[in-house]
Amino acid sequence: MATPTPSVKAVRGTRDLLPPETALWARIEQTARDVFARYGFGEIRTPIFEATELFARGVGEETDIVSKEMYTWEDRARAQSEKAQSLTLRPENTAGVVRAYIEHKLGETGAPQKLFYIGPQFRRERPQRGRYRQFWQIGCEVLGPQSSGSESPVRDAEVLEMLATLLDELGVKNWKLELNSVGSSEDRKRYNAALREALAPVKHQLNEDNQRRAETNPLRVLDSKDPADQAIIAALPKIADYLDDDSRAHFAAVLAALDACSVPYTANPRLVRGLDYYTRTTFEFTVPDGSGLGTQNALLGGGRYDGLSEMLGGPKAPGIGFAIGEDRLVLTLQAQREALEPRTLNLEPKLDAYIAPIGAERNAAALALARELRRAGLSVEVGDGTFRLKKSFEAADRVARHIVILGEDELASNTATVKTFATGEQVKVDRTKLIDLLRT
Ligand code: HAM
Repeated sequence: MATPTPSVKAVRGTRDLLPPETALWARIEQTARDVFARYGFGEIRTPIFEATELFARGVGEETDIVSKEMYTWEDRARAQSEKAQSLTLRPENTAGVVRAYIEHKLGETGAPQKLFYIGPQFRRERPQRGRYRQFWQIGCEVLGPQSSGSESPVRDAEVLEMLATLLDELGVKNWKLELNSVGSSEDRKRYNAALREALAPVKHQLNEDNQRRAETNPLRVLDSKDPADQAIIAALPKIADYLDDDSRAHFAAVLAALDACSVPYTANPRLVRGLDYYTRTTFEFTVPDGSGLGTQNALLGGGRYDGLSEMLGGPKAPGIGFAIGEDRLVLTLQAQREALEPRTLNLEPKLDAYIAPIGAERNAAALALARELRRAGLSVEVGDGTFRLKKSFEAADRVARHIVILGEDELASNTATVKTFATGEQVKVDRTKLIDLLRT
């Protein structure tokens, strides 16, 4: 016996998003667009792949993302005018946005650029609930020349306040904002040196990854989730003690502005985040256990990146931004579903009408009627004239509020027979009255 051909499956860590869940995705994206518009953000769409060097320089060679999670390939030259080049599927969007800012000289407008994006990102992580190899981010970036006020703590607080508003409007319950200051790059140098020194006598007790990090990027050790490392981490120096006066004042001003807006937060001196471009304010929004995310409880993360533009060869352009993990937002909202308004829960709203032609010879007339109704703004499904009436009624009841029966009689008299499922009422109406009836 021939072995059956195995079917092709979606690649590990990727998944299909299907209706009705996609309606929730669309609602989230629409709410985000509405909120961002109120805060003066415009949309940017950057390419899905970029030169590998962008992420190596922007995100940092020593980060997990760049050192082991990127999808990178050698793109061969296909014409004399092309060069062979190392390309990478974007693992995040901030580096791409800053590249575009530099490339299009957006700083020359003198105003801060307020940009948002919604799109897929790619990281070769170990897949689990809330962690995928293709995942979606909804993000914002505010950046501009210093003279535009892009370095002001007001920008940080405004971005955080906007996130609090967005999560509230989406109906996310019990979110928690944790923030920290990782200081200027000078502060970080001093802190890294202090960490290296403090780690030297104890690093052999850390897990293998952290032993390496203790050398290459000691800040990352703070991020360890390994329970066995926690006692050592708790005893390490705190970054707050290494901030210079400017960084300290900046952070205090961010917290004061959050207090003034009544946005609740928790200062977490261990929050360092996994990308190298951060300076000063860094933050994460998390949801409690049991909110559908398993161990991946960071709904979103972000922070300031005052030196990133220069790292990429651009002008000085301080900035701050965040990216929400949209997959995680969906999981959270599904788990917290009872918090949503009934309207938003109805992910599969019924169509206005299902047209049931009686006999295959009425199919064309049914499609013509559907065209007329749809152009009038109604949502319509068309059945098939070969169905028995009982089957049409069952199909209609599943998807629509009304069934419109189109038989020989109805066509001859320019009428339609309409049954409204909610009331059980059935009437024959003139075609001129049909649209009004179906809207009820
Ligand atoms: P990130 O912390 O690497 O930051 O990612 C932001 C969010 O994306 C995470 O909090 C998480 O919700 C989601 N995320 C990350 N990796 C995955 C994954 N494998 N599967 C599902 N969701 C994931 C950034 O990407 C920065 N670019 C954020 C930023 C913008 N900072 C300043 N501006």
